[in-house]
Amino acid sequence: MSPEEAKQRIGSLSSELKQHNYNYFVLAMPTISDFDFDKKLEELNALEKQFPEFAEPDSPTKRVGGDITKEFVTVKHRWPMLSLGNTYNAQELLDFDQRIRKAIGDNFEYVCELKFDGLSISLTYQGGNLLRAVTRGDGIQGDDVTTNVRTINTIPKKLHPSDYPDEFEIRGEVFMHLKAFERLNAERLENGEPPYANPRNFASGTLKMQDSGEVARRPLDCYLYFLYTEKLLFKTHWESLQAVKSWGFQTNEHSRIYSNLDGVLEFISLWDKKRFGLSYDIDGIVIKVNSYAQQAELGFTAKSPRWAIAYKFKAEQVETELLSVTYQVGRTGAVTPVANLKPVQLAGTTVKRATLHNADEIEKRLKLHEHDWVYVEKGGEIIPKIISVNLEKRKDRANPIYYIIACPSCGTTLERKEGEAAFYCPNEEGCPPQIVGKMQHFIGRKAMNIDGLGNETIEALYQKNLINKISDIYDLHLHSDQLKQLDRFGEKSINNMLDGIEKSKQMPFEKVLFGLGIRYVGETVAKKLAAYFKNVDSLGAATPEELNAVEEIGDRIAVSVNDYFSNEKHKAEIEKLKIQGLQFVSEEKEVTLASESLSGKTFIISGVFAKYSRDELTNIIEQNGGKIVSSISAKLNYLVAGDNMGPAKLEKAQKLNIPIISDEELLGMIG
Ligand code: IVH
Repeated sequence: MSPEEAKQRIGSLSSELKQHNYNYFVLAMPTISDFDFDKKLEELNALEKQFPEFAEPDSPTKRVGGDITKEFVTVKHRWPMLSLGNTYNAQELLDFDQRIRKAIGDNFEYVCELKFDGLSISLTYQGGNLLRAVTRGDGIQGDDVTTNVRTINTIPKKLHPSDYPDEFEIRGEVFMHLKAFERLNAERLENGEPPYANPRNFASGTLKMQDSGEVARRPLDCYLYFLYTEKLLFKTHWESLQAVKSWGFQTNEHSRIYSNLDGVLEFISLWDKKRFGLSYDIDGIVIKVNSYAQQAELGFTAKSPRWAIAYKFKAEQVETELLSVTYQVGRTGAVTPVANLKPVQLAGTTVKRATLHNADEIEKRLKLHEHDWVYVEKGGEIIPKIISVNLEKRKDRANPIYYIIACPSCGTTLERKEGEAAFYCPNEEGCPPQIVGKMQHFIGRKAMNIDGLGNETIEALYQKNLINKISDIYDLHLHSDQLKQLDRFGEKSINNMLDGIEKSKQMPFEKVLFGLGIRYVGETVAKKLAAYFKNVDSLGAATPEELNAVEEIGDRIAVSVNDYFSNEKHKAEIEKLKIQGLQFVSEEKEVTLASESLSGKTFIISGVFAKYSRDELTNIIEQNGGKIVSSISAKLNYLVAGDNMGPAKLEKAQKLNIPIISDEELLGMIG
């Protein structure tokens, strides 16, 4: 390679890798596989060695990677948080083993651990109390995310007395279980929000949220794997793992000690298969020299310890042909591109389609052309993903693929909302898949669950011009003659359907509210809103501020709900549904009071609490005769305040001289 070419290649690789680092660490939305990233980093490293004069001072080869997000307080790590070198095959591990033997001889042990695919966290304890939790950031300094980490149940906030030092740091990995990931992602889809690509991104996005209430709703977990103390307390890593476990930390039960590389290789091949049976994602195995003295002897390179290495499992990849790109319009109008592929076997299933996410993925990242050959991978993601294009197989005159500009269904020009990657069809009332999708959502299992009426029937009834909006479903009984003319629709099916529709009028308000399909109002949010506002009139009249006062209702939901009820057509539809007999008032639950000690008193709960969720505190207040109210006024009796409470609320309460109490004080009031 000529110096000129090398200079150019170093420049382009550096900026590409910096962008990937940014996507990974800051946006938590990587667009490249770890494997490809490492290959590019290796290439850059080799070129920089050959042409050091062209290496950029802040080259990705010199940085641990990562960046710090702006919203959190930055904390410098007492001990830098390094990353690990990666290996992908037995030969690379053998080289690692050889390097170690050369430095410290043959008498040593390895500890093998699962490599959890989450994000690393550093916890500081003082006097047995969790003092601080900081993300890795750039390895030197990270974000203080203590309030969010306090919501993780398996991280102890207070340790039972034991022989731990007064101050120490412990590091581990925060992650999300696959079950929770699937459940919460399905909820996001239902609410018209973009789903996360994998549990790691979900966990990372969650830990960096500003709203700890929302963090608490998204269950995270944590395995601890490294202890830092001022004075060395143990001789080996293994001993320290046993100790931290006895102090109350969660360590992983699958870690093992081996006296040579054969054992390590066995552990690796065992988990390469068994990993699919775990309830969380792992992306490899971490191998650490056990003895601390030997670790010290081996030392560090600029980026990582010499005494540890990661073995990364390879995500299975296959090559196949792109047949076409089609577009799906969801009930919220979001238009999602899908790659249709020549069917191919991958990780035990036949893959025919892959997600393309959005316009940028097609035009900017992959620069897809018609009939490209693409590499498909099924990693932590549920839906396969196109990793890259095999440019060698691209036909000479292949046309580039451009994301569509008009709705594939109704032809309306698509719009992109500021700050969002997705394009939307704005023709809410005239675009068939949106109209049908909204009605299908309404009758769905989690919403009105109407017996005798399924998605296909909704489609058929729409095609026959019998229904166009939810309230039309409740007028179907007026069209029995037309119903009889529908294909494959006998009298019995018609009666079943009409019965089901009639019965659905008894479904509780929260189900109706969820069924309306208001953007960002999923099942949980609908429940909260119904319980809090009690009826649709109060909900519809609520200002964004009043909506915001409800637990877990953030700005985005508040604005969306307010917008929905400001629309005249929506108001008319709700009035019609009311007349048709649907439930728009919450059923009053009979509460048996535990005591009357809070009777006549009003409360607002705000912030995050270490021991209780806000729901639990609400129950405690209500069961003892107290009442939760929506907004701070001079009439309010108490503000129960936890961590991270909004400053505006606090200021207002202070101005009005409202007593601000803790959860402990609240409990004190009821004895
Ligand atoms: S030890 C200095 N052990 O992998 C060594 N790391 O690429 C510190 N990880 O930043 C790391 N599971 O986020 C260690 N059992 C494990 C791990 C683990 C996952 C992550 C961690 C680290 C990255 C290194």
